[in-house]
Amino acid sequence: MRAAVLEEFGAPLVVQEVELAEPRAGEVLVRVVACGVCHTDLYTASGADPTGYAPAVLGHEGAGVVERVGEGVSSVAVGDHVVTLFSPQCRECIHCLDPRTNLCLAIREQQNVGHLPDGTTRLSRGGEPLRHFMGTSTFAEYTVMPEIALARINPDAPLAHACLFACGLSTGLGAAINTAEVQAGTTCVIFGAGIVGLGAVAGCRLQGAERIVCVDLSDQRLALAAGQGATDLVRGGGDAVAAILEMTGGLGADYTFEATGRVEVMGQAVEAARMGWGMATMCGVAGKGRTLDIVPRLLITGRRVTGSSFGGIKGRDQVPALLERSLAGEIDVEPLVSHRLSLEEVNRGFDLMHAQDGIRSVIDLS
Ligand code: CU
Ligand code: ZN
Repeated sequence: MRAAVLEEFGAPLVVQEVELAEPRAGEVLVRVVACGVCHTDLYTASGADPTGYAPAVLGHEGAGVVERVGEGVSSVAVGDHVVTLFSPQCRECIHCLDPRTNLCLAIREQQNVGHLPDGTTRLSRGGEPLRHFMGTSTFAEYTVMPEIALARINPDAPLAHACLFACGLSTGLGAAINTAEVQAGTTCVIFGAGIVGLGAVAGCRLQGAERIVCVDLSDQRLALAAGQGATDLVRGGGDAVAAILEMTGGLGADYTFEATGRVEVMGQAVEAARMGWGMATMCGVAGKGRTLDIVPRLLITGRRVTGSSFGGIKGRDQVPALLERSLAGEIDVEPLVSHRLSLEEVNRGFDLMHAQDGIRSVIDLS
């Protein structure tokens, strides 16, 4: 099959022929139909992530169709439409059994080093193993993944939309719905109008927030935020907190969300949360070694700071439900797809991200 391989950090991905073995027990062969190009792929490809590994097939925002199942697989069948989950849900570990977290413990160690749960790879090239990125490796025509990392979805959902629920969009939606549990009638502020921030805007709207303020540096992205339900738009920068305090009678917002990954902006999200009960939710992934400074007085006076990975979403249960809401017209996904690319054009997806051109590039493998 064709796949985009990270050969060398800092160099473009190389699209080439690689081998993919049959699924083993508990594994599923998926034909990838659509895959978003996410910042985490770029971050790993650049070499900035010290835990990255190569050679590996990148890609983790995938959606496709089940082609074959290994022994013992019972939750998906041939022909099912699925979304790939870099954050799996085994439904058995202590975290899966607890409603407070989505951080499944089942396959973490092997996934972190690019192996499938049995400690081997299905990907190879000329007999040399190739590692699986984030347990997904969806910059490819096919992938083999553990059953616990696939969400079975309604086949009516366009797969080019469904793939965005594999990472960015769900992360933002979940931050508002699961992590902050935004209450109706409240004021929310979202810093950053990339796909995660836009998802958070939509999540706040679905929760019934009365006022949704979006902060970003780009007028184009702010316009998209308005389309997702933002009621107020603020140009980002050093004055953003002052602007928010002014809009909220000097008190700040009930909920704030950070979706840029910049620690300076995380600080603003804490400062823009109101005393008494304001909750600041961190969604962005900060650079390695960066720290967040918080004046303790802000906490003593009742602000809370939290965060989540993948929006706290238990993927097999909640991704299909979120997709249903998009099919019902509650979440407008199409404006988030700014470019459609072929697998051969995957590096252009990275270039577009560097240029901050558009929200999401989706690779079409159909
Ligand atoms: Cu991602
Ligand atoms: Zn688990």
